[in-house]
Amino acid sequence: MKIGFIGCGNMGSAMIGGILKKGIFQKEEIIVSNLTEEGSKRSREKLGVATTLDNCEVVRRSKLVVLAVKPQFYEEVLKEIKNELTAEHMIVGIAPGKTLAWLQEKCGLPLKVVRFMPNTPAMVGEGMTGVCVNERVTQEEMNKIREITDSFGRTEFVPERLMDAVGAVSGCSPAYIFMVIEAMADAAVELGMARKQAYSFAAQAVLGSAKMVLETGMHPGELKDMVTSPAGTTIEGVRTLEKAGFRSAMFEALVAAAEKGRKL
Ligand SMILES: NC(=O)c1ccc[n+]([C@@H]2O[C@H](COP(=O)([O-])OP(=O)(O)OC[C@H]3O[C@@H](n4cnc5c(N)ncnc54)[C@H](OP(=O)(O)O)[C@@H]3O)[C@@H](O)[C@H]2O)c1
Repeated sequence: MKIGFIGCGNMGSAMIGGILKKGIFQKEEIIVSNLTEEGSKRSREKLGVATTLDNCEVVRRSKLVVLAVKPQFYEEVLKEIKNELTAEHMIVGIAPGKTLAWLQEKCGLPLKVVRFMPNTPAMVGEGMTGVCVNERVTQEEMNKIREITDSFGRTEFVPERLMDAVGAVSGCSPAYIFMVIEAMADAAVELGMARKQAYSFAAQAVLGSAKMVLETGMHPGELKDMVTSPAGTTIEGVRTLEKAGFRSAMFEALVAAAEKGRKL
């Protein structure tokens, strides 16, 4: 085994899906643990990887160990696996608020510690992952890490102080964008469109807009201006959004999410 996941729910399976698809590791090189037999069955059926209910087995059988359980279980899981960890292991935390120093301390020995902040679009290969590492991780290992996280989307290495910002702007924001898409579709339904078609129009508009930002490199304001013709329909909508505090609502939501992340 080369890579192990303790916890294989939404995020764990999204990451493994990308890793397998891009052939970074083969099925036989991956082992995952879940809390329940039901979870193990799900991982075997969906991903075809080896499974166990014993977290220590994951550590014994892999050198790169990703902690993909909910943040509240980090402490008990680390207590459980502590005696199996060696200086050869690389431990990856993906939970908000669990810092490199915290992870290192709970591991109880000096080892390579990494943090990923991925997001659920990883499930469709369009994830965005912020990564930071401790001083024991070499450049070569960072290249391997990038290869792994690139397999389910894009990767940016950031200083650890930015991880809460990453959590807000890409970890949490898909939820806010889904709310935007839902609201857009509701409006289209109100205007007479069938529900399924409404989601398709709304989601494709969001996808295309995001692609324009990434591929043209143009300022989002400039791209917005390209849609707003004088006295036209779009500027009328812009006026309505500004009046409702749309930008401020998004701004405050991200800052609140980052602040919460810092406290976890
Ligand atoms: N979801 C996101 O958008 C997102 C984004 C960035 C980061 N994250 C982080 O990713 C982590 C996982 O989130 P998730 O959304 O993937 O959670 P999830 O879907 O609820 O999955 C949690 C997994 O952990 C397993 N588990 C629970 N307790 C365990 C234990 N003691 N030992 C071994 N496995 C255990 C569960 O097994 P069973 O299925 O058997 O119960 C399940 O496979 C969290 O720390 C979260 O903060 C999530």
